[in-house]
Amino acid sequence: MTKQLLLGQTLRFSGNPFTADWDTVTHHSRRGGVLVEDGKITAVGEGDDLRRDHPDAPVTDYGDGLISAGFVDAHMHYPQTGIIASWGKQLIDWLNTYTFPEESRFADAAYAADVAGRTLDLALAHGTTTLTSFCTIHPESVDAFFGAAADRNMAVIAGKTCMDRNAPDTLRDTAQSAYEDSKALLEKWHGKGRATYCITPRFSPTSTPEQLAALGALWAEHPEVPMQTHLSEQLPELEWVASLFPDCRDYLDTYERFGLLGERGLYGHAIHLTDREKARLSEVGASVVHCPTSNTFIGSGLFDMIGLSQTNIRTGLATDTGGGSNFSMLRTMGAAYEVGQLRGEAIHPAQLMWLATEGSANALHMSGQIGSLNVGAAADITVLDLASTPAIAQRTNRAEHIWDAIFPTVMMGDDRAIRDVWIAGKKV
Ligand code: GUN
Ligand code: ZN
Repeated sequence: MTKQLLLGQTLRFSGNPFTADWDTVTHHSRRGGVLVEDGKITAVGEGDDLRRDHPDAPVTDYGDGLISAGFVDAHMHYPQTGIIASWGKQLIDWLNTYTFPEESRFADAAYAADVAGRTLDLALAHGTTTLTSFCTIHPESVDAFFGAAADRNMAVIAGKTCMDRNAPDTLRDTAQSAYEDSKALLEKWHGKGRATYCITPRFSPTSTPEQLAALGALWAEHPEVPMQTHLSEQLPELEWVASLFPDCRDYLDTYERFGLLGERGLYGHAIHLTDREKARLSEVGASVVHCPTSNTFIGSGLFDMIGLSQTNIRTGLATDTGGGSNFSMLRTMGAAYEVGQLRGEAIHPAQLMWLATEGSANALHMSGQIGSLNVGAAADITVLDLASTPAIAQRTNRAEHIWDAIFPTVMMGDDRAIRDVWIAGKKV
């Protein structure tokens, strides 16, 4: 049994601060402790109490450092790491100009392995302990990602991106091969170590009805796995979808008709939703993913965080690298705050921290397993330095309470704010 006791400020949640009073469901301790045994959190409480009760546990004392659950990125594209921050395009043009040429390179397993490793190391450097990623159409890209995550013992969610139309020759599969390759990869990787396979049609414009139906059939055979895609991101995209699927009632219906609407569905962006779409997503308890740096960078729109939080829809938070413009979930929380402000809604830092950890885990149906500092969760932990730069420190120094101390790091922090990261109880 390997024991570790981490001491510092601790922050954990016992409920959803969007639906309950944030003050009653957030638990901050100025001198807290987290006991880790065999990769899991086995006790949380006051540091002195834990130290007295576990005198045999080696101690890592972070002082004023804030011990938090590691960040959970609920939607990103690891193959786009190399083209992050590419200038001047909106969604469809951006895909054709930057994304598709880069994704074509992932037929090369060595290239895929290089980018997968680099992406996971960048994520860890930014305090992100779980990534939910699209791969490319190439099975090699899926093997590369899960292999690199296994090397780092990281819990990841990923799948082969399927596209059989409206993409270059180098990036098209077929309905049949998408089904067969996805099934083989699911059987190979799902549940192996910390890997979760995710059925992944890119979005309805790049799949024929036959391909959507084939992936819907695969999901029906494996309802235990998640399914990820994109939904209602940008207005010209909505017009394109309507022209490609004239019989469908709306964008969501292009998935619903083919068996691709379900409780374990993860719908990225979900900005321009109709009332029917919201009602259906809420009825099935599906998840949407807020990608605020992407939605501003690609020019997509303002996600309705507060409105959707009052429904039965689960919401996760994500970088959407490389449509998103930053690897940092701190910057992503900051952007979520700014988007909220543009909608006239001030999202509380407790809500932002919850979204980046517990909220994303909940969207992934992994509550209590990851993104949590509660007993029983994996010890995937991020320790924040709340005074990581002179600019942040001079503000934190006059903070009057914990949120006042955390919010400057949410708004101005980057990888310099990440003091340490632990994966399954081991310091990275
Ligand atoms: N819609 C379809 N594919 C993508 C993608 O790679 N990024 C974003 N942001 N939206 C998409
Ligand atoms: Zn995406």
